[in-house]
Amino acid sequence: MAFEELKAKHSVVWGAGPYQRVTDALIEAHEHLFSVCEPESGENWLDVATGTGNIAIRAAEGGATVTAQDIAPELVAAAADRANAAGVEIDFRTGDCEDMPFADGEFDTVTSSFGHMFSPDHATSANEIARVCRTGGRIALLTWHPSEGVADLFKILSQYQQTPAGAGRPFDWGDTEHVNDLLGECFNLGYARGISVHREPSGEALWRVFREDYGPTKVLADSLDDEQYAQLERECIEYFETFRAPGGGVEWAREYLLTVGTRTRVPVGETSLAQASA
Ligand SMILES: C[S@@+](CC[C@H](N)C(=O)[O-])C[C@H]1O[C@@H](n2cnc3c(N)ncnc32)[C@H](O)[C@@H]1O
Repeated sequence: MAFEELKAKHSVVWGAGPYQRVTDALIEAHEHLFSVCEPESGENWLDVATGTGNIAIRAAEGGATVTAQDIAPELVAAAADRANAAGVEIDFRTGDCEDMPFADGEFDTVTSSFGHMFSPDHATSANEIARVCRTGGRIALLTWHPSEGVADLFKILSQYQQTPAGAGRPFDWGDTEHVNDLLGECFNLGYARGISVHREPSGEALWRVFREDYGPTKVLADSLDDEQYAQLERECIEYFETFRAPGGGVEWAREYLLTVGTRTRVPVGETSLAQASA
């Protein structure tokens, strides 16, 4: 399989920071997802790239039977601790969303909140999401805007690190045409957009959250020499400061795409599904 080296790196990088403060600022987007995808009692729900498990825990609290997977073992462990503390049972798995150990059509609902978008092979992760969703089942996927908000932060980061050749651009998942190309054959799709705001007292405070808690930024920052680090820090703080709110503090408003879909038919060229439907 392609990109194995890159994904091995991702499994370490994403778990390099505790992450929880970052996901807590995604609350508006998570609420938006649940407003169109309420858990139903006893349904089989898969949360792909669950991170520290906010979506998975909320789905389990709503009565779903939840499985949650992520490539970063440290985040899966943190999610399991949080699920224990919340008093819900979830089947947590560490693994790659491009190759999931689940049966065809195993889940009634498949969600991913700003997660599957980071797998480098978009067609493969899309096919996996389609494969494990039963006919008549549903998906709800959150992805960032293709060129603004979190994409702006990643543009800054990209000046300090190499992007692996051939890897899919995560932010393409924020483009409805791209999503339609990947999933339109298997799902009746609908789209909504929304804004998720990360609020902190200052650009400096927001930088600290990403510097300390967000694996990709933490690993990058730790890898730079003093001069490069100072430049990265300055650029990020300057960027965050452009979101100064009239009432004080910064309000980093990030636009996202919410894709919802109902599973209609098998994707062309998927051998296992072609066999299953034969
Ligand atoms: C921005 S976080 C989102 C986490 C969580 N869904 C949320 O809403 O807070 C991205 C997540 O994708 C996971 N991830 C990245 N590549 C992955 C892959 N190929 N397979 C599974 N998970 C992956 C990371 O480990 C990380 O937890």
